[in-house]
Amino acid sequence: MRYFLAVAMMLGVLLLGVVGFRDTTTRRTPIEVFPDMDRQPKLRPQAEDAFFADNRGSRRPVEGTMARMTPMTMGASGSSELVYGYEDLPVNTGHLTGVTNYVENIPLTVSGELLERGMGRYQINCQPCHGALGDGNGITRKLGMVVVANLHDPRIIKMPDGELFHVITSGRNLMSNYAAQVSVKDRWSIIAYIRALQRSRLASIDDVPEQLRSTLTK
Ligand code: HEC
Repeated sequence: MRYFLAVAMMLGVLLLGVVGFRDTTTRRTPIEVFPDMDRQPKLRPQAEDAFFADNRGSRRPVEGTMARMTPMTMGASGSSELVYGYEDLPVNTGHLTGVTNYVENIPLTVSGELLERGMGRYQINCQPCHGALGDGNGITRKLGMVVVANLHDPRIIKMPDGELFHVITSGRNLMSNYAAQVSVKDRWSIIAYIRALQRSRLASIDDVPEQLRSTLTK
């Protein structure tokens, strides 16, 4: 009997413990069995915080942070014309504004500076596959990628510059796109360099200054 009472009392306490005080309110600190990250050290926006010397919870952007909407300067360096990435302009899309026709020519001022930039970007992003000469004999051919386009193909020579821009931006057939790696202005600089590569094979004797012609070997 004594055991029965003891067990009954313990069960009673247990029952009260589990369901007894549900829904009651108290001003005392609750007992926390699982704190569940209720309290965490963190910064709140627009609030004070003693963690930093200036007591500000909101921090200024790190120096050198780029805004997503940084406009691009058109033309050669020093040109003050600015273009934002969302504008429907040939320089952003490779198309004439409002239609789907490709632009025929690079919509930036092509300068020596742009060409030099293009050479560097070409060597980094395109040369592994298309080769230093643009003939499709990059290092990847030795590794088994045999279908890389020869950029001296008459079909590619005749392509409008906007179409080349489209190939870099969106990829084509087996070639993947390089929009993430190559900025808009750099894409045009690469196109300028590809045109220089193509021209280098299409030049005639008339393109060589007269006093240098005798130095050419046949
Ligand atoms: C990983 C290898 C690789 C890299 C890097 C690469 N390409 Fe290509 N590219 C290819 C292959 C493969 C093809 C042929 C695609 C096909 O026709 O299936 C091709 C095709 C092309 C074509 C011809 C498209 C057509 O209409 O036939 C152009 C133009 C071109 N690439 C330009 C570039 C430029 C510019 C870059 C640098 C930004 C670049 N490629 C980087 C592999 C590459």
